[in-house]
Amino acid sequence: MTEQDFILKDYKTNVESGKVKWESPSNIALVKYWGKRENQIPENPSISFTLSNCKTITELIYRKKAGNDFSFDVIFEGKKNEAFKPKIQTFFERIEAYVPFLRDYHFTIETSNTFPHSSGIASSASGMSALALCLMSIEQEVKENVTLSAVERSSYFNQKSSFLARLGSGSACRSIEGELVVWGKNASTESSDLFGVRLAEDIHPNFKNYQDAILLVDKGEKQVSSTVGHKLMFGHPFAEKRFQQAHENLAELKDVLISGNQKRFIEIVESEALTLHAMMMTSMPYFILMKPNTLQIINKIWEFRAKTDANICFTLDAGANVHVLFPEGEREKVYEFIKTQLVAYCQNGHYICDTVGKGAKKLV
Ligand code: DP6
Repeated sequence: MTEQDFILKDYKTNVESGKVKWESPSNIALVKYWGKRENQIPENPSISFTLSNCKTITELIYRKKAGNDFSFDVIFEGKKNEAFKPKIQTFFERIEAYVPFLRDYHFTIETSNTFPHSSGIASSASGMSALALCLMSIEQEVKENVTLSAVERSSYFNQKSSFLARLGSGSACRSIEGELVVWGKNASTESSDLFGVRLAEDIHPNFKNYQDAILLVDKGEKQVSSTVGHKLMFGHPFAEKRFQQAHENLAELKDVLISGNQKRFIEIVESEALTLHAMMMTSMPYFILMKPNTLQIINKIWEFRAKTDANICFTLDAGANVHVLFPEGEREKVYEFIKTQLVAYCQNGHYICDTVGKGAKKLV
């Protein structure tokens, strides 16, 4: 597949209006994407667990309009929202070559998240993937009949949805499907820089229904956005080594997911999280997104693991919140630990219980 294959060439111009609706989940990277080239091409491959409870629900109402500009309103959690418009405008500009009907309609984008907006949980992955999926459903409405088998149709739909989502936010391309998705060309998996691909191998039962408790350490706005952070990998003294390490970690993690080696899983995942933050601390300008309570939680997890031999580990996004990962079979004892020892480090005692999921769902 190349970019050219995603250009919609002929489409019907007599579709006046309609409505589509999707829900799309967030995802948590195990090997992290940090650093990108032009057009949202990642500098290194990444892999993530798709989540199930943290998701965005987006309804797109479209109505034929005159004129040649982009025209849309955003309604976020029931209220008109101007703040999201510039990001969506940029998204539309990046994707219009692939979905040329964009300028033909006025769109009302009604969107909401299942997690609190001010939770410090990035909504760009779930938000951009939900919007991309809605646009793909419209594409299906307006597309001239092409003779594809059902399987070909569905794989094209997912690939192009992921391709469009990537142009909104890189990590969003990993939210279309579940349970594990790889993005970025590498030698050990069938994958692409253009879109996310489901890890097709048989995953060991140890990693089925994996749990993710998201501890909300700091719900405030981040001092440095991911987009700025990615740019700081240009000319970063450790960039090349880091990109190479991500390739190696991805290859090994794939084997670990198949073999069921939980100890090695923990080592790779925690090392990836700390490396991500080490890249932030060693860029110029440098910055720190972890908070004192992030470190308190990490130390408590290490203490608990040493004492109980639980298969619990942490990972971090570009923020202070801690994702606590563990197998389904250890749920009870880990939640007991979280409630008695970790909640104290969460802002207002808040945390979210999530689990690995199967990807986005069409609602209308
Ligand atoms: C640390 O996907 O938010 O979460 O492409 O600029 O929108 P943009 O960045 P974004 O970066 C996510 C970075 C990360 C790691 C990851 O999810 O792989």
